[in-house]
Amino acid sequence: MDAPLLRITDLTVTFPVEEGGAGAVWTRPGTDATTDAVPPPRTRKTKGAGQSPKNGAAQRGSLLNFRGGQNGRFRAVDALSLHIDAGEALALVGESGSGKSVTALSILGLLDAPGRIEGGSIRFAGQELTALNGAGLRAIRGNRIAMIFQEPMTSLNPALTIGAQVAEPLRLHRRLSRREARGEAVRLLTKVAIPDAAARLDDYPHQFSGGMRQRVMVAMAVACNPALVIADEPTTALDVTVQAQILALLKNLTGRAGVEGRESGEAAGETALPAGGRGSPVASPRSEEPLLRQGAQRRQAGSKGADSGQEGAALLLISHDLGVVAGCADRVAVMYAGRIVETAPAATLYAAPRHPYSQGLLRSLPRQDAPSGTRLQAIAGQPPDLAALPPGCAFAPRCPQAQAICVQQRPKLLPVGDRSAVACHLYG
Ligand SMILES: Nc1ncnc2c1ncn2[C@@H]1O[C@H](COP(=O)(O)OP(=O)(O)O)[C@@H](O)[C@H]1O
Ligand code: SF4
Ligand SMILES: [Mg+2]
Repeated sequence: MDAPLLRITDLTVTFPVEEGGAGAVWTRPGTDATTDAVPPPRTRKTKGAGQSPKNGAAQRGSLLNFRGGQNGRFRAVDALSLHIDAGEALALVGESGSGKSVTALSILGLLDAPGRIEGGSIRFAGQELTALNGAGLRAIRGNRIAMIFQEPMTSLNPALTIGAQVAEPLRLHRRLSRREARGEAVRLLTKVAIPDAAARLDDYPHQFSGGMRQRVMVAMAVACNPALVIADEPTTALDVTVQAQILALLKNLTGRAGVEGRESGEAAGETALPAGGRGSPVASPRSEEPLLRQGAQRRQAGSKGADSGQEGAALLLISHDLGVVAGCADRVAVMYAGRIVETAPAATLYAAPRHPYSQGLLRSLPRQDAPSGTRLQAIAGQPPDLAALPPGCAFAPRCPQAQAICVQQRPKLLPVGDRSAVACHLYG
């Protein structure tokens, strides 16, 4: 059997525990007393803004230890393993703060200090990405692996025209001339349904709506026929109908067969496409069958590009919302507190999730097949503080099925059934 396109093995990424953050135990200067720092909600610091815990300790006392942390650092991603086959769509799903973006940034070599890859391997098309230098990574980014972020305004340069930005990867990676790249930019923008694309090449990002900017990002992502597209919350900043359009485009342009999306003509009014998206039907025993069929169609089609016979790209679709990825993914990996807790073919996961956390995520979604008046059930409790994880299962404090063993032993991710694995003591 062929090696997967991407295989991540035991990836561990750490960040420093912030001064006064949960998990730190400080001695007060001049006393022997220790205080458990009150756990404030963790706030993300911008690059360079993070303060070393050691400096903080020098000012305020000495740092004794960190629960769950090592050397003043905590694991944002903890021994994570996953794989994506060529042409496959894997959804990575979990609440905010579970380590999805850190995983994506690690693949692309874009993890900024103070984040640090402590161990593990990321193999892409036979190449070890963690061993590549800056030039090696730049040759892959935007070319073999493309990325779409949540907020296109942070990825697009406000001072450059749309045309210049779409043309850039074409000139850099496909070595097209200026003129050729402009022509290709028009073709790509038309493909993502930017009306009158040629006339809009010289517009700036602020002259485009949020949905159109995300279309531009999709165009840039597929410009060099990448083998893998990583889309990190690509629709979270968009309203519901535009979300559906972007997901349809992503499915279409990464070569997903059976795509419902239209390629042109709808952008001006940004009308709804019947695609996955918030509120789309998640699979039920009734809706499972079409989902299974979609997956089979993709595989049968060999994931060929929708319009060109090129091989379709694999897709790593990241979302905090299981509803968004319904209908887009062949497989789903559910992440909690830096770990994969369940992975399964999409149809299996939506029809019969095994892990109590996956079950909770699914119960918190609106379903089209639910009787009217059905109340959505949010998962009780708060996402954990990664710097102060309990010794056993990280989900135990919120789990309605927790047993004695759950607070003592961390469950391992073990295979269960066809192409599925789960990390939960309920399963062996
Ligand atoms: N730049 C950063 N500085 C400090 N901590 C960070 C930074 N980025 C991420 N983290 C930590 O890593 C955890 C996982 O973050 P992230 O991967 O962005 O979560 P998400 O699943 O929402 O994408 C966060 O909860 C946070 O504790
Ligand atoms: S291991 Fe225990 S606490 Fe964790 S999800 Fe399974 S049953 Fe719940
Ligand atoms: Mg994120």
